[in-house]
Amino acid sequence: MRVPVIKTKLPGPKASELIKKDQTFVSPSYTRVYPLVVDQAEGIWVRDVDSNVFLDFTAGIAVNATGHCHPRVVSAIKNQAEQLLHMSGTDFYYTPQIALAERLAGLASVRGDRRVYFGNSGAEAVEAAFKLARWHTRRELNIAFYGAFHGRTMGALSLTASKAIQKKHYHPFVPGITHIPYAYCYRCHLNLCYPECGVACVRWIEDTLFRTNLPPEEIAAIFVEPIQGEGGYIIPPPEFHKELHKLAQKYGILYVADEVQTGMGRTGKMFGMEHFDVVPDIMSLAKGIASGMPLGAMVARSEIMDWEAGSHASTFGGNPVSCAAAMATIDLLEETLMENAKEQGELLLNGLREQQINHECMGDVRGKGLMVAVELVKDRETKEPAKDWRDSVIKNAFLKGLLLLGCGENSIRFCPALTVSPEEIDTCLTIFDEAVLESVE
Ligand SMILES: Cc1ncc(COP(=O)(O)O)c(C=O)c1O
Repeated sequence: MRVPVIKTKLPGPKASELIKKDQTFVSPSYTRVYPLVVDQAEGIWVRDVDSNVFLDFTAGIAVNATGHCHPRVVSAIKNQAEQLLHMSGTDFYYTPQIALAERLAGLASVRGDRRVYFGNSGAEAVEAAFKLARWHTRRELNIAFYGAFHGRTMGALSLTASKAIQKKHYHPFVPGITHIPYAYCYRCHLNLCYPECGVACVRWIEDTLFRTNLPPEEIAAIFVEPIQGEGGYIIPPPEFHKELHKLAQKYGILYVADEVQTGMGRTGKMFGMEHFDVVPDIMSLAKGIASGMPLGAMVARSEIMDWEAGSHASTFGGNPVSCAAAMATIDLLEETLMENAKEQGELLLNGLREQQINHECMGDVRGKGLMVAVELVKDRETKEPAKDWRDSVIKNAFLKGLLLLGCGENSIRFCPALTVSPEEIDTCLTIFDEAVLESVE
């Protein structure tokens, strides 16, 4: 069985040199939580520049769906690169963009006939949805959620309400967006308990927000993540999206599912919204869609995507190499990986739930497929967030060769490649358990 191999003090000598250079030349706005300098990666294993080997449960922030450098994705990239690198799908036609649009239109759980817009990132996919919702409805208002992360361009950032640092000094934002609380049952803003609450958080929107402050007939869209990602891998109760979608339909409001993190098989279904039995009007996709090549897509009902030539476009969006990587990725997801995400996700979730019995600090363990999180608290009764413990667990896991990332204020996320094996889940659980012991108790 393969295990992490840490040969040097971390960071090692080569990594230290490179980090020094990075600190001179690279933007200081990036959020590196530990000093990992990657050299090479394969599957779920990452080697740093000092030849230390790590088990990667971050997948490049939930991107490397098929694992690092999957041979079939690499081969699709190579073949396409030899044939056509770029032509700009904005001004010209080419096969990979058309073929991927057809494939996504067939896959997407969007109502009716669908069309696809291509960009290069999650933010661009959300930005496109934001503009299309305004274009189609000619309405100016929008709803988004506290805890939501939709990206960092000014439109997408205006919809984001994840961490104040992301918005500091950037006001004013695009006007007309109202943020409301997400269905975060572990910390219900109405102080109610599910299921007795009857999903009162959705009723509150109509009874309070629409009645007092926000005329619903002026709202273009509700932007919502099926499961909040950066916000803490927060899974709403089963009825939440259904009720919210019903409300949206009642007032002709578009339902925009931001599937950038939940999409492409990560939750064990192709799209996160499928767990909630809701078919949105528009969806945004990125991250796992092309296994690491830059690509974003916005899929909408054809009758909604009624904007004119010139109203929105991107030079690089739908690049042929990224499209080829996406086709190979979708093949792999459909063949085995989506199913594997479901099976390994259950193993991981059960393993963490067993550890929760012994670790008081593991306040909540939640997940769908390979989108799994542990929320750390100082006290199970008060649920006081334990951000310092969370940070320390992540750092200690790194020193032991396990790569993890945080999410929300005090949660740790587990989002490995969908190729992860039961043995790799076991190794992760063993190291995580040790890291929690060292960091907290
Ligand atoms: C749900 C969601 N939407 C949008 C984005 C923005 O994606 P990108 O960083 O590719 O712009 C992210 C990134 O984490 C995300 O999780």
